[in-house]
Amino acid sequence: MDKYLIKNGHLTDPANGINEVMDILISDGKVLKTAVEISENDTDAIGADIINAAGKVVMPGFVDLHVHLREPGFEYKETVMTGAQAAAKGGVTTICPMPNTKPVIDSPARVIDLIKRAEDAPVNVLPVGAITAGQEGVDINDIAGMKEAGAVAISEDGRSVMDTWIFRQALHQAAEAGMPVFSHCEDTSLVDGGVINAGAKAEELGLPGIINAVEDVIAARDIILAKEAGCRLHLCHCSTADSAIFVEMAKKQGLPVTAEVCPHHFTMSDDEITEDDGRFKMNPPLRSRTDVEALKSALRDGVMDVISTDHAPHSAEEKSQTMLKAPFGIVGLETSFALGYTVLVKGGYLSLPGLVMKMSTNPAKVIGIDRGNLAPGKTADLVIADINSEYVIDSSTFVSKGKNTPFDGMKVTGKIEKTFVNGKIVYSCNN
Ligand code: DOR
Ligand code: ZN
Ligand code: ZN
Repeated sequence: MDKYLIKNGHLTDPANGINEVMDILISDGKVLKTAVEISENDTDAIGADIINAAGKVVMPGFVDLHVHLREPGFEYKETVMTGAQAAAKGGVTTICPMPNTKPVIDSPARVIDLIKRAEDAPVNVLPVGAITAGQEGVDINDIAGMKEAGAVAISEDGRSVMDTWIFRQALHQAAEAGMPVFSHCEDTSLVDGGVINAGAKAEELGLPGIINAVEDVIAARDIILAKEAGCRLHLCHCSTADSAIFVEMAKKQGLPVTAEVCPHHFTMSDDEITEDDGRFKMNPPLRSRTDVEALKSALRDGVMDVISTDHAPHSAEEKSQTMLKAPFGIVGLETSFALGYTVLVKGGYLSLPGLVMKMSTNPAKVIGIDRGNLAPGKTADLVIADINSEYVIDSSTFVSKGKNTPFDGMKVTGKIEKTFVNGKIVYSCNN
């Protein structure tokens, strides 16, 4: 039986209003107790390994609602195991893989197969099922069946269900099944071959641009349809100032709409793209400074609920191509906490408990899992981090197969030291 007494750490557990130095005893996969002091001689602590967390923070493990694990079908980019190991290193204890694999995760059997593949993974893997067969936008999948099989949401991520009637039918069925819908907002008829944000940088590099309306039109459509269907809607990777305005409007109407921002969209704007290089290419693209500022404010003001990564690994060969040829996507699992801490906490947009809400407590609520909470009796998924550790991001140290990040060489603060899943250590930093 694994038993750990984590002493003198700064416990940041916003679900329980705790933000102070406290000891925490975990045993048999659960939090046994938290207190200002738990003695090593406490009868409950007998036999526990003592971990000194003085000067460190202890937080509930992060829940990343949006990752791409590439298995089955694209194992050269990532496998369930390598993606889960990258998550553990990033302090992420639960990941929700998107269904755009080969084959697409579009049936109860495929959901079950993916869960089986993740049996030995070091973190919790909760699949997202596709909305339509093969993500082709025509035949709606067995949503209730996929839920029964263990999927926590449905999404067509990688694209939108462009046929509004079919999407509406899917939302009604999702509402019936009590399944949240994760929306990738991209009006394909407006994309026009774009590869980076439409604007001065696209012109400077001579590249076709992606206008904000590509996202905004579908964000607005999906909110309108979710209202009509009474369905829970979660907007993926919001990148524009107007998508934040639409989400705010939806919330003002009391609709069950939530939304996420990815670290790259609050950290970097398109004017920071230094050259025509595929590592700066993702979908939606890095936007203008105005959009970045609006997203940070929306995170601060509670309009944006969740930070998730859209971890999208690709091979070095694929991503070393120019913007026109490289696939969309960057990795994120091993840098999300550091970017959140550096940009949002040190930047004055969020407190540390505020960041934990966006990375753990809120995403757990979106999919209705009992995580993001370190009260006694809860599952011991937790992270110990050093928020004073400064270092330079070095993609060659990533355990993900994907090394594709525009943040290589960036100085950040905040290092994950240890990650626990179900009360067991799944990652320990050795430098
Ligand atoms: O950048 C992205 N990559 N955006 C997506 O929507 C899909 C993802 C992928 O699967 O590579
Ligand atoms: Zn997407
Ligand atoms: Zn994605």
